[in-house]
Amino acid sequence: MHSASFIPILLLQLTFLAVLHGAKWTYNGPEGEHHWSKHYPYCGGAFQSPIDIKSELLRFDPTLRPIEIQNYNLSPNEQLTLGNNGHSVQISLPSKMHISSLPHRYTAAQLHFHWGSSGRPSGSEHTVNSKQYAAEMHVVHFNSDKYPNMSMAVDKSDGLAVLGVLIEVGEFNPAFEKFLRFINGIKYRDQRVQVPGFNIRALLPARLDEYYRYDGSLTTPPCYPSVLWTIFRNHVTISRKQFLDMATGLYSSHAQESSPVPLNGNFRKPQLVDSRVVLVSFKEADLSWINTGLLVTILVGSALGLVLIVPLLCCLFKQKRAGAEQDKSKGVGYNGSEKDEYGSRV
Ligand SMILES: *[C@@H]1O[C@H](CO)[C@@H](O)[C@H](O)[C@H]1NC(C)=O
Repeated sequence: MHSASFIPILLLQLTFLAVLHGAKWTYNGPEGEHHWSKHYPYCGGAFQSPIDIKSELLRFDPTLRPIEIQNYNLSPNEQLTLGNNGHSVQISLPSKMHISSLPHRYTAAQLHFHWGSSGRPSGSEHTVNSKQYAAEMHVVHFNSDKYPNMSMAVDKSDGLAVLGVLIEVGEFNPAFEKFLRFINGIKYRDQRVQVPGFNIRALLPARLDEYYRYDGSLTTPPCYPSVLWTIFRNHVTISRKQFLDMATGLYSSHAQESSPVPLNGNFRKPQLVDSRVVLVSFKEADLSWINTGLLVTILVGSALGLVLIVPLLCCLFKQKRAGAEQDKSKGVGYNGSEKDEYGSRV
């Protein structure tokens, strides 16, 4: 039979095309983000991510519970795969890790990063009131109540839940060192190494109750609008050296290619918000703009103000009281019993 041999060959050709196709997109040049929608129509569609999280989009939602995660504390005995896929650094995660605070169970699949370059250390995908952070981590989960695996969930509207962590350059982060110390082994595209498990919770900010929530998409092709986004309000820090380990140590090209292409600036620009709102789990005003200097100025100013105002008020009060005593002695007034607690007439 012709068809019996034809089908495997066709499948092989399709697989080959898919691999070529999948390898095609980049962040710059002729296959850069403005051209993604030619091969991946969803990238030009609705509900795209990332977005700029602007104050005017925010709406407080008292029903947003703190994020609860299970089995994030992995033992060093369980091996994780750390890989360079040419677009990012990715760590595979075991299926016992999951989010338990959403209407469905969302099982972890992988986490990966987006970052800037050494010359331009701003590479987060989500921005907050136009502020772009140095990098961003995405912990990707799929709806395992409804779908058997990541590939079945990836294009469904309720398929994925991603936890986003904004990263700033600052204090050294020991948790990031658990995998950064192995990235020399994955300098080039498609390289992989096994790394001992560690506490993935330590990569997240301390507070899991304060976050932004909106409906969006994968930030890379095929850009399916299948992601329930949670972006934590509080960022984490990594040291300048840790940032440079990622921004200068990796290539998006294969080891055998003659001219290596650096892997950095791997972030998509903010997308149209359209009719969307961003729900927020917290209510307090953002006072982060108050720095220590300003705070000291306000406190010293207030103290000085009190020093001047208190004697002035005392002085005025004494004068008024003296006046009242004088009035009383003259017998002026409608009703002597109508006095306030200080004995002054009301
Ligand atoms: C995902 O699940 C579907 C349906 O059960 C199955 O056909 C497919 O092979 C699975 N894919 C992977 C990558 O496990």
